[in-house]
Amino acid sequence: MKAVRFHDYGDSKVLRYEEVPTPVPGPGEVLVKIAGSAFNPVDDGIRGGYLQQVFPVDLPHVPGIELSGTVALSAAGWPAGEPVIALLSMTAPGSAAEYALVPAEALVRAPRTVDLADAAALPSSALTAWQVLFEHAKLQKGQTVLINGAGGAVGGYAVQLAKQVGAVVTATASKRSADRLRARGADHLIDYTAEPLSGQFDVVVNLVATEAPGFNTAGPNINVFLRPDPARLADLVARVDAGELVIDVAERRPLKDLAAVHDNPAGGGKSVLLP
Ligand SMILES: NC(=O)c1ccc[n+]([C@@H]2O[C@H](COP(=O)([O-])OP(=O)(O)OC[C@H]3O[C@@H](n4cnc5c(N)ncnc54)[C@H](OP(=O)(O)O)[C@@H]3O)[C@@H](O)[C@H]2O)c1
Repeated sequence: MKAVRFHDYGDSKVLRYEEVPTPVPGPGEVLVKIAGSAFNPVDDGIRGGYLQQVFPVDLPHVPGIELSGTVALSAAGWPAGEPVIALLSMTAPGSAAEYALVPAEALVRAPRTVDLADAAALPSSALTAWQVLFEHAKLQKGQTVLINGAGGAVGGYAVQLAKQVGAVVTATASKRSADRLRARGADHLIDYTAEPLSGQFDVVVNLVATEAPGFNTAGPNINVFLRPDPARLADLVARVDAGELVIDVAERRPLKDLAAVHDNPAGGGKSVLLP
């Protein structure tokens, strides 16, 4: 099969589109024929070697921590041809390939109402948004929430989920993302390229690495780490199929372009790679 791998850590030039053996499922694993593999900022850190302590990978490594596709061989109760999505382990061989192995318990039925490749853009970002808002911040109806970095993939889901629970949502976004976020439910927008952050909020979600001037948290600061949760992911899929959660894909590109995406992801939503 074709896959992108890196044999050494380094800049995007280490990513090679090459022929590799198609993986063979072991007990409890399902072989998935990939329709889409979505890029995440963490892929950049893993490839660059900055995250070796937290996410040690075996080299050569296939990057990519989430996918959509179809079950290639019937296994572990999953029929061949079933459309699925999954969040993968950060350190396992990943989704930048034509096929990937997924532990059966990590598989979730894909949404039926969106393009299967685009469904790859759901798992990591939507789960992160959910966990930040409801497991850590315990956001409730009527509370005010600032989502800093709402133009990105996590932020787009966070705006929608916060709005659905009845929160009053302020989003920071540049012009390219403002209309989309308004349509997704943001009550107030701050253009971070033109004005400083101001205001007081019950909950602040910071999705930007460098904090903006005026950013001040009086309450507890919590660093969130995404954890796998297939049951919650199935609930998020149901929301997509109910028309309550929109998957925003900023760009779809052939898998062989992965290095260019690592260098310059589109922003304003997810980049999805097509094998
Ligand atoms: N710890 C975890 O488990 C976990 C999980 C997922 C993500 N993350 C982290 O969360 C962050 C967001 O992830 P993501 O996937 O949503 O990233 P992303 O899609 O790459 O976010 C890109 C967006 O960030 C916005 N942005 C850039 N600079 C900004 C600034 N100064 N102020 C406000 N917005 C700014 C831009 O919005 P505009 O389009 O409006 O310009 C851009 O579209 C990343 O740092 C990622 O590593 C952590």
